[in-house]
Amino acid sequence: MSAQTPKGNLPVVLLKDGASETKGREAQKNNIAAGKIIADIVRSSLGPRGMDKMLVDSLGDVTITNDGATILKEIDVQHPAAKMLVEISKTTDNEVGDGTTSAVVLAGALLENAESLITQDVHPTVIVDGYKKAAKKAKQYLSEIGENITPNDKNILKKIAKTSMQTKLVRKDSDSLSDLVVNSIVSVAVKDGEKFNVDIDDVKVEKKTGGSIKDSTLVKGIVLDKEVVHSGMPKKTNEAKIALINTALEISKTETDAKININNPQQMKSFLDEENKMLKNMVDKVIGSGATVVLCQKGIDDMAQHYLSKAGIMAVRRVKESDMTKLAKATGARIVTNLDDLFEKDLGSSENVEERKIEEDRWVFVEGCRHPKSVTLLLRAGSQRVVDEVERSVHDSIMVVRDVMEFPSIVAGGGSPETYAATKIRNWSKSLEGREQLAAEKFAESLESIPLTLSENAGMDPIDTLTSLRSKQNKGEKWTGIDVMKGRVTNMKSSDIIEPLAVKNQIVSAATEAACMIIRIDDVIATAKSAGPPPGAEGGMPPGMGGMGGMPPGMGGMGGMPDMGGMM
Ligand SMILES: Nc1ncnc2c1ncn2[C@@H]1O[C@H](COP(=O)(O)OP(=O)(O)OP(=O)(O)O)[C@@H](O)[C@H]1O
Ligand SMILES: [Mg+2]
Repeated sequence: MSAQTPKGNLPVVLLKDGASETKGREAQKNNIAAGKIIADIVRSSLGPRGMDKMLVDSLGDVTITNDGATILKEIDVQHPAAKMLVEISKTTDNEVGDGTTSAVVLAGALLENAESLITQDVHPTVIVDGYKKAAKKAKQYLSEIGENITPNDKNILKKIAKTSMQTKLVRKDSDSLSDLVVNSIVSVAVKDGEKFNVDIDDVKVEKKTGGSIKDSTLVKGIVLDKEVVHSGMPKKTNEAKIALINTALEISKTETDAKININNPQQMKSFLDEENKMLKNMVDKVIGSGATVVLCQKGIDDMAQHYLSKAGIMAVRRVKESDMTKLAKATGARIVTNLDDLFEKDLGSSENVEERKIEEDRWVFVEGCRHPKSVTLLLRAGSQRVVDEVERSVHDSIMVVRDVMEFPSIVAGGGSPETYAATKIRNWSKSLEGREQLAAEKFAESLESIPLTLSENAGMDPIDTLTSLRSKQNKGEKWTGIDVMKGRVTNMKSSDIIEPLAVKNQIVSAATEAACMIIRIDDVIATAKSAGPPPGAEGGMPPGMGGMGGMPPGMGGMGGMPDMGGMM
């Protein structure tokens, strides 16, 4: 890459050969276009009437989902600006769990509206300032309508869990699943003064094909995808006393290299006898503690298995470290590293420990723990793809229940809070001087992309619906939204469609941040790659921007989606 000196003499070489640069309007147009394409991909999956996507990876594995973050993760986007939208869906997923599609749809609308402002000669920094001020206001207006709830009110928590499942494949089973989710989160929540803290890692989610979604259960304890080590051991133990051991019940190898010369069979026998004695000694310590179940993070020697089974003790080996921590929380046991430290007080308890056959596998259930601070959701469904989507939906649901337990404030769904904030921002924007006012107005319009998309996806007339929604909200009916299942504009709270305020705040923050970041870019410099530009990279990029491409022509320079072209 080179630039001419003012007099047009020698070019100044800044970047390696093959590097490229797009500047000004061209760069802005490119980035905004890429962002809009990403938003278009997920838009049709928003809301209960949204469609699902079938994603096929390079190995031919199929994922069917409606979850925004999953869709964008699977399509492996390469365009740098488009990646920012993928990132906000990921962050939203990590932070609040739900609202990943909404965040991207809102960011797409903000970009689209910014583009129209740029063509009207509004400077990008003015747009960014206007957007940021409007976003701050939006959050203020949202908290105005946020209603405080009692964090452990299971009735409300269930409605919230259910709302997040309304938009997923599991909608029909949302009643039973939301009960499981709420009971699991309430069980692991820890009260800290007036507040609750929830670590979602304390809810272990196991999935297994077979049966139907209705067969999913909440196990008050931990399910281990392991078998009992020895066939002679009991397969079920009631009123179990559980020892958690993270050392091997084996003879450990010496650290130094040593050689033992054995000259006759007698010596060999006494050598083995000594080993057995050591193992017996270990098992005796376990027996001495009164344990009836041993869950060991490391291996258990055959001989030790034999002694344990003779003593009627059930044992499982090579339990994952993460499961050991959960088992400790569920059963109240202390994880013991040195067998000399194993006493009765270190044991945990549960109503029973049982090995059961789940389809073709044998799993060990540690269940009926009295005050479990760690539980397992065992999800079932007829096929792998369905059980995968059930897991994703349950994840969203777990997260929203956690959100409101930690930050107990709710708003209605169905585009109601977005329309409320939009109306308020329109009024407030009039107080702004200069062109920021235009940006704030566009921000309000962008917020309405949520109700607009919900109604579009439901086959309702978007304009009629939106105008009716606006007019009702103007009359002060702040809980009014679009119930797309009933096909009308109505009070969403009485339809039990409620969501955490935290999710709405996250959507506004994440979308604004990403859109502003993209709008501010006026120069894209791509350093040279060793390989030449991929074919067709000219699609959305100016010549020479190939390093970022990899798309078939016409995909706006978003790379890595060759198979998706005809699908969306
Ligand atoms: N019965 C309903 N009528 C109207 N809107 C609804 C209804 N149930 C849920 N919604 C709305 O659907 C939107 C959520 O849709 P969806 O779950 O598809 O996307 P998301 O939550 O933004 O992202 P994701 O769930 O993929 O992380 C919310 O605005 C919610 O208020
Ligand atoms: Mg959702």
